[in-house]
Amino acid sequence: MLAMNAMVKPAADAVVADAAKAPAKVVARNVNVYYGDKHALKDVSVDIPERSVMAFIGPSGCGKSTFLRCINRMNDTIPSARVTGNIEIDNLDIYDKSLDVVQLRARVGMVFQKPNPFPKSIYENVAYGPRIHGMARSKADLDEIVTASLKRAGLYEEVKDRLSDPGTGLSGGQQQRLCIARAIAVGPEVILMDEPCSALDPIATARIEELIDELRQNFTIIIVTHSMQQAARVSQRTAFFHLGNLVEEGPTETVFTTPHDRRTQDYITGRFG
Ligand SMILES: Nc1ncnc2c1ncn2[C@@H]1O[C@H](COP(=O)(O)OP(=O)(O)OP(=O)(O)O)[C@@H](O)[C@H]1O
Ligand SMILES: [Mg+2]
Repeated sequence: MLAMNAMVKPAADAVVADAAKAPAKVVARNVNVYYGDKHALKDVSVDIPERSVMAFIGPSGCGKSTFLRCINRMNDTIPSARVTGNIEIDNLDIYDKSLDVVQLRARVGMVFQKPNPFPKSIYENVAYGPRIHGMARSKADLDEIVTASLKRAGLYEEVKDRLSDPGTGLSGGQQQRLCIARAIAVGPEVILMDEPCSALDPIATARIEELIDELRQNFTIIIVTHSMQQAARVSQRTAFFHLGNLVEEGPTETVFTTPHDRRTQDYITGRFG
């Protein structure tokens, strides 16, 4: 009886309610980031639950992108950046010296503000990652991964007859879905999205938001957004940053309706930002 119940797919609302209790996928403790002398991120600790969406909000320059980049070690590519503290994904210390950063970035995909397809065909944009990671044994395997990824990104129907056309020839919203397909293709567990809709119109934005909502069934998603409506629509938990501090983190509804900190209150009511 129990086993049968366990197999019943919970309603979407139950998934939302459970997000708070879901095991942590990413655990950050006392993370600091310095760019030269500038202390950009200050002692940030947070647990990010698996298979849910967490939104990072806060005024420009407060450290949202900086913290996001800590989670797939993109800050390694910025010479002046220095990171201290601890981040674990599934109990694995991602700053461990023996860790393969290329493998890490396959597990932790990233989608940027501006859609950035490679100057290659739609097919090649998605096939690139699986190919360099040796994920396909044959052309048929690769075709399968490309098709499945485009389907999961909600783009397949629109591009299936022109897979060899350049990715850059798609509309902005389609390009962003292509970038999401590219991120998904290597089978990541965590997807980082830094303002993924800021260059998109409301229709394309709605499409991406729907997609994020579907993807959270299988992935842990962290999204930076300047739109509080978007944070409220897509996330189960929200973290508010201010001047490099993580001021407050909790269920999205709580953060937006009864925040604990005055700074959060001021930001969500538009007093600064
Ligand atoms: N590559 C860099 N070199 C030096 N300082 C940097 C660098 N990147 C970010 N900073 C500084 O670190 C602080 C946090 O920047 P970050 O880009 O993380 O903010 P943000 O919250 O993402 O802002 P926005 O909403 O404008 O994208 C800022 O003061 C910024 O000037
Ligand atoms: Mg940013």
